[in-house]
Amino acid sequence: MKVLFVASEMAPFAKTGGLADVAGSLPFALQREGHQVSVVLPLYSKIGENYRQEMKKVGEFYVDLDWRSQYAGIFLYQKDGIDIYFVDNEFYFHRHALYGMYDDGERFVFFNKAVVHMIKQLDLETDIVHSNDWHTGLIPLYVKDFAKGDQYYKDIKTVFTIHNLKYQGIFPQSILTLAGLSFEYFHEEGLKYYESVNFMKAGIVYSDALTTVSSSYAQEIKYEFYGESLQGIIRRHEYKLMGIINGIDYDLYNPEKDQRIPYHYSLKNPGDKMKNKTALQETFGLPLNKDVPIISMVSRLVDMKGLDLVRYILDELLQGDIQVVVLGTGDKEYEDMFRHFQWKYPDKMSAHIYFNEEEAHLVYAGSDIFLMPSMAEPCGISQLIALRYGTVPVVREAGGLKDTVIPFNEFTGEGTGFTFANYNAHELLYTIKRAIDIYSEEDQWNGLVERTMKAKHDWDKSSKEYTKLYNTLLHQRW
Ligand code: GLC
Repeated sequence: MKVLFVASEMAPFAKTGGLADVAGSLPFALQREGHQVSVVLPLYSKIGENYRQEMKKVGEFYVDLDWRSQYAGIFLYQKDGIDIYFVDNEFYFHRHALYGMYDDGERFVFFNKAVVHMIKQLDLETDIVHSNDWHTGLIPLYVKDFAKGDQYYKDIKTVFTIHNLKYQGIFPQSILTLAGLSFEYFHEEGLKYYESVNFMKAGIVYSDALTTVSSSYAQEIKYEFYGESLQGIIRRHEYKLMGIINGIDYDLYNPEKDQRIPYHYSLKNPGDKMKNKTALQETFGLPLNKDVPIISMVSRLVDMKGLDLVRYILDELLQGDIQVVVLGTGDKEYEDMFRHFQWKYPDKMSAHIYFNEEEAHLVYAGSDIFLMPSMAEPCGISQLIALRYGTVPVVREAGGLKDTVIPFNEFTGEGTGFTFANYNAHELLYTIKRAIDIYSEEDQWNGLVERTMKAKHDWDKSSKEYTKLYNTLLHQRW
């Protein structure tokens, strides 16, 4: 089967969030399932020279955007048997960041349309086009729209994956003219969202199959609290909706081999996790103490991650015998909040308000408890990394967190972490305190750590599920 995976970011080329990790690893897992997989993304100016040198130009054509015709150059980069295409247009992608521009609507209309043209231009013989989040939401529609006038597109099936419903890509109606899409698509069951056009909605409505990144999130988004005002349309398309949980790259995140951490350890030899703990305390300028539990967060600092709950309890928490380390950037109010607590509790709290891959690995390896009290979490990747490194997660039971962290049960000796249900600061505080209590019971804790490291969240199972889905689509007769 030939699959074209379309995303607006992919690690290691361009990354702002979890989508990049998925795009950087799922295609390789699908390839291992025997498919021929290609990926396509924009050629952003920030993509490094080292990669550009290895690219070769394989095509160029023009994309009509209203009365203009825009150049699209196609570059190919090959990695481990996978073709990665980059769509080049300096005007749209030579910017200081990936998104957040005044003309994002136009930029991604261009990208989506260029990708669908590219399939034919390069004669990729694509069976499945798998696109992701609002930046690629128009792709299923373009495939159907092109197929009306061009037989080449008629057998291509489309899959659309929601990674985060919060960002939807909403633009004025006039974008339709630019996109070359008929106003016939502008109705409640189509692209219309109040008086605007919604790209996420386009993906939901026009795809042949709709997925999201955990089973719980697939349920949650049918209702108001998580539905981000799209719950109605999602319910009308639930017949084609399913949740497939993400995995992580088990080679990249492997405490036994990870080049980014100073001491290697494993299930059989867990002791050296402690040495990483000392290294972490050194790096974050905290007192060296093996006995104190270190609670960590590696996160984008935005409200969705549950930081309002953290703000509420942090003062009380820091009065106990603990250390807290934070790594990440985001909204200023949360950055300042952590700076404030670091100032108030310099021996207990250390916040590195930036992102650094190396330090992230050290935090996962060196801390004891990983905190992720998200308000909403479609899948979540950090808790999977924490589990892999034997760092016990404390999470809210939302989306993928609920599906991947099994609550600890001291009577049966089961579980891989601590969970709480309601978006409530006291529940969070109580749950962290419970984790700290168990931390002081060595046998219980060691058992817990062992179970976290045994949990398996690589891509094997998920890529099999995607394969099943692709197969069903291809053999379906409408
Ligand atoms: C988004 C979601 C996150 C998910 C990731 C990859 O970043 O917020 O929960 O893990 O996409 O699917």
